[in-house]
Amino acid sequence: MKHLLYIVSVILLLISCDSLHATKKGTQASISTKADVHSYANLSEISTKHLHLELDVNFENRTIYGVARHEMRNKGADTAIFDINGLMIQKVTIGQKGSEEEADMFIDKMDKDSVLGQALMVPIKKDTKFVNIYYQTTERSDALDWLDTNLTSSKTKPFLYTQGQAILTRTWIPLQDSPSNRITYSADVKVPNDLLAVMSAKNPIQKNKEGLYHFEMKKPIPAYLIALAVGDLEYHAFSSNSGVYSEPELLSSCAYEFDAIPKMISAAEKLYGPYQWEQYDILVLPYSFPFGGMENPMLTFANPTLLAGDKSLVSVIAHELAHSWSGNLVTNRTWNDFWLNEGFTVYFEQRIMESIYGKEVADILALIEYDELKDELTRIKASKNPEDSKLHLALEGRNPDDGMTDIAYVKGAFFLKTLENEVGRSKFDAFLKKYFETFQFKTVDTKQFVRFLKKNLLTKEHEDFDYQSWIYAEGLPDNCLQLHSTRLDQMEKLADDFTHNKVSFAPKITYKWKKVGKRRKKIKNVEQIKFQDHIVQEWQTFIRRLPRNLPQAKMREIDRYLRFSYSGNSELLTEWFILSANCGYASTNKQQITAFLSKVGRRKYLMPIYEALLLNKASRPMAISIFSQSKDHYHAVSRKSVEALIRETK
Ligand code: BES
Ligand code: ZN
Repeated sequence: MKHLLYIVSVILLLISCDSLHATKKGTQASISTKADVHSYANLSEISTKHLHLELDVNFENRTIYGVARHEMRNKGADTAIFDINGLMIQKVTIGQKGSEEEADMFIDKMDKDSVLGQALMVPIKKDTKFVNIYYQTTERSDALDWLDTNLTSSKTKPFLYTQGQAILTRTWIPLQDSPSNRITYSADVKVPNDLLAVMSAKNPIQKNKEGLYHFEMKKPIPAYLIALAVGDLEYHAFSSNSGVYSEPELLSSCAYEFDAIPKMISAAEKLYGPYQWEQYDILVLPYSFPFGGMENPMLTFANPTLLAGDKSLVSVIAHELAHSWSGNLVTNRTWNDFWLNEGFTVYFEQRIMESIYGKEVADILALIEYDELKDELTRIKASKNPEDSKLHLALEGRNPDDGMTDIAYVKGAFFLKTLENEVGRSKFDAFLKKYFETFQFKTVDTKQFVRFLKKNLLTKEHEDFDYQSWIYAEGLPDNCLQLHSTRLDQMEKLADDFTHNKVSFAPKITYKWKKVGKRRKKIKNVEQIKFQDHIVQEWQTFIRRLPRNLPQAKMREIDRYLRFSYSGNSELLTEWFILSANCGYASTNKQQITAFLSKVGRRKYLMPIYEALLLNKASRPMAISIFSQSKDHYHAVSRKSVEALIRETK
C-alpha cells in the first residue's frame, strides 16, 4: 500500500510540474504530424510495429496490471508520445526485456472534455526501439466492463470484456491509439484459473489449470481492434475455421442461431476475395455489451440479443464478417473517414444477405435502414452540427463517437448502391475487389478513395457521376437509388387499415356448409392474421407506420393477438416500446419495458426507448427510475450516452 501511495504521488507530481512544458511539446507534435486529430501520438516520427502485452487480470480489484512492450520504428525522434486515458502509469523503461533502463516520462494534462485523455511522453534517443510501459487500469478505464456473477448467464462466474473502438483502447493499454497505424501484437494473459481468456487473435478453445494464456495476432491491425474477454466460456465449432464461444448456458442457442456462418464466409469470399484472418469465431457476451456486434479480428464480439431463436437477426453477423474486409483489412485512416469502414460494410453485408436469402429480403433490410436514414437526416439538419450529414466528417475537438450515425452506415451504403446501379454490378464488383486487394493491410482516407474511384471506376462514360455531393455535401443527393418492396407496402396498408378499423387481428370465424356423403356438414373456418405470417422486419414497418397517438384499445388488441410486448426479438420490442411511450401505453407494459431496459445494454435499443420515455411527461419518471437502477450494469459507453440524453431532454 505504501508503495502504491508513493507511485500515485510521484505521478501527481509529474502531472503538476510538467504540464506546461509537456503541453507545449504535445501541441508541437500534433501540429507537425496532423495524422489524426484524435490521437496525441507523433506517428510520423516514431510508431509501434509490434506490441507485446503482459496482463494480470484481477477480478477482486477490478484491475488489469500490465506491461505494454512497444517495439518501434524510430525515424530519429527524441520523444515517443502515447495516448492514455484513465490509466495509472507506474514507470517507463527503455530497452529489451531483461536489459531495461528506467526512463523519464511526462504526462500532459487531461483535455478539456476528457475525451482524448492525456499524452504520455517519453524522452528517447534517436535510435531507441524498445519502450516498455508499466501500468494499471482504474475505474475510469472505460473500455472495460467488469461484470459481477449476477450479470452473467451462469450467475456463478464473473466476466470481463473490452470495447476499444473508437478511442477506448487507450483506457486499458497505453499505446498510440490511432487507426492510421497498424501493429501486430502478442500477449501473455493471467486470469483466474476457472475462467478462459480470449482475444482478437488466435484463441484457445479450452481452459488450462494455470489460467495462463498466450496470444498472437500476426497480421497488422489498428489499435481499436485489440480486444480481450475473460469468462466461463465454451466453444462450439461450425467448421474447421469457424465457431462460437459463449457461456455454457447459451452455447446450444448460439450453435443454432449462427449456423449460417460457414455459408456467409463462402458467399463473402466469392464476392470480394479470400478471407485473410485464418479463423472466424463469434463470442457471445453478456447483455450489457453496448453494441450489436464488434468486428474484433478472428473473434467478432456479439450481443446476446442476437439470439432471437429464429435467426432473424443474423444480418448483424453478416455485417461483422464483412468488416473482415472493409475495416479490418482496409481501415479508415482517421475517424473522419469512418464511412469507409461502415458504409462499405453495410453495402457488403447486404450483398452477403442477398446471396444467401435473396434480393427480396435484402431489399427489405435496406429499406428499413433507409427509413432510419431519413429520420437521422432530419435530426442532423436541425442539430447544431448540420455538417454531420456529410460522409466525410470534421470531428476535430469532438468525440469520434459523434460520427457513429446512419450517415456513415446507411448514406455510405446507398452511395455504393447508387454507384453500383450507375456502372453495373459486374464492373462494380471488380472495382471493390481491386480496392480490397490494393489497400489490404493498409489504411485509407477519403481523398485516397476518391482518387481510386476516379481512376478505376468513374472513367470516360461515368465521368459526370456526381460523387462530390455524396461525400462533401450535406443531405442526400437526388440521384440516390430508390428501392421498393411490395411486401413492405402491404404492411403499411395493413397498418393504415388497422388504424381506420378496416382490419382486426381478432380471429374472424365463418361457417360454410359442405356436403359430406349424403349429409351437409357445418365447417368452421378461422381467418386470422398471424405473427408468423410475416418476418420481423415487416412487423417493424407495420409499427413504424402506426400513428403516434394510436388509441389504447388498439395497442391492447395488438398485444393480445400479436403479443409484441412479449416478443423475443429486440428490434421489434424496441419499435413497440417507442410507440408505447409515445401513445401513453407504457404504463400498461411497464413491466416488460423495465425488464428489457434493465437487462439489455445495447445502445441502439436503449437510446430511442429512453428518449421516447423521457420526452413524454407521463413516462419520464419511469425512465429515470429504471436508469438509476440499471446504470451500474451498463457499459460506460451506454451509461454516458443515456446520461447525456437525460440532460438534453430536461
Ligand atoms: N464497428 C461497429 C461498432 C462500433 C462503431 C463501435 C463505432 C464503436 C464505435 C460495428 O461493426 C457495428 O457497426 N455494429 C452495429 C451492427 C449493425 C450496423 C449491423 C451495431 O452494433 O448496431
Ligand atoms: Zn460496423
